[in-house]
Amino acid sequence: MSEPLVLGIETSCDETAIGIVRGRTLLANVIASSVDEHARFGGVVPEIASRAHLEAMLPSIKKAVADAKISLNDIDAVAVTAGPGLVGALLVGTATAAGLALGLGKPLYGVNHLAAHVSVDFLTHDLPTDPTIALLVSGGHSSLLQVDDITDSITKLGATMDDAAGEAFDKISRVMGLGFPGGPAIDLSAQSGDPQAIDFPRGLTTSNDWQTRPYDFSFSGLKTAVARYLEATPNYKKADVAASFQEAIVDVLLLKSLAACKASGIDSLVIAGGVAANSRLRALASQRCQAVGVRLRIPSPALCTDNGAMVAALGSLMVAAGRAPSQSAFDADSSLPVEVVSL
Ligand code: KG4
Ligand code: ZN
Repeated sequence: MSEPLVLGIETSCDETAIGIVRGRTLLANVIASSVDEHARFGGVVPEIASRAHLEAMLPSIKKAVADAKISLNDIDAVAVTAGPGLVGALLVGTATAAGLALGLGKPLYGVNHLAAHVSVDFLTHDLPTDPTIALLVSGGHSSLLQVDDITDSITKLGATMDDAAGEAFDKISRVMGLGFPGGPAIDLSAQSGDPQAIDFPRGLTTSNDWQTRPYDFSFSGLKTAVARYLEATPNYKKADVAASFQEAIVDVLLLKSLAACKASGIDSLVIAGGVAANSRLRALASQRCQAVGVRLRIPSPALCTDNGAMVAALGSLMVAAGRAPSQSAFDADSSLPVEVVSL
């Protein structure tokens, strides 16, 4: 089977998302988000997310099948996010996928949400993905990975010791009254600000940190520094705070990513996850990678945040690599480690 037709289901957080790919060609990418229902709580409420997934699931599958101009019977495999994520939300996806695969008599692949974020790049860039260093920055996770084979060999080089990068954006946005989700709001506000206005701290970048934790991240000191600055500066300029905060995060993410490329001798970097949609991260990554001869790949902004195409893309790679499908009764794992690509 050279060009498998794969349907991917993503429900790990607040997006009910269905993607359909044929090989590396994206045929449909339907996203029903419950983000508006969570906004007034300032974060995702698991019970609301689960109920919204139940309501959105079947209409989203029908729309994806119609958009892709296929029949469900044409599908060669079903892929679904098995974890990590909110357990009640994940279960809506895995139960649907298991039922669909069983009904169609097609293989089922329960895949890792984080590996799926990285593999979506394969729908965009015509380059081999492996080996590569991957910076994975989302609302729930921030890690630096060495990917030797996206279908079964991912090594964690480092991760955040406290907040995820996206979480830091969300929390700072909330204290600045910029709304939820915070990443896009800060990105927008920062456009008219000065990134050098305030010198916020870069976590885990002392010479001792470079010796002991070269690839780990910490954003709690930065968060505290921003909160103190806001308290101490009654007439602060929102755009300058947003731009300076964003610069501190982006700078440290790229310093560590390029250090990992250098140390491993791998001249390829993929940046993935919701924070990879950040315009400053994209621009600075492009400049710095070019300066040191590292090939940079970042999926289009719409494919960086949670979507079903990324799950279908990883499913398609699993089929192409001849990996064994999952058992139909596998359990969703809310804390699935990043190294476990499929269940
Ligand atoms: O990957 P994702 O959609 O969901 C998770 O798996 O967590 O990431 C969501 C995170 C949120 O924290 C959101 O604020 C952040 O990605 N985000 C951004 C941008 N767009 C989304 N952060 C910075 N700049 C953006 N433009
Ligand atoms: Zn995600």
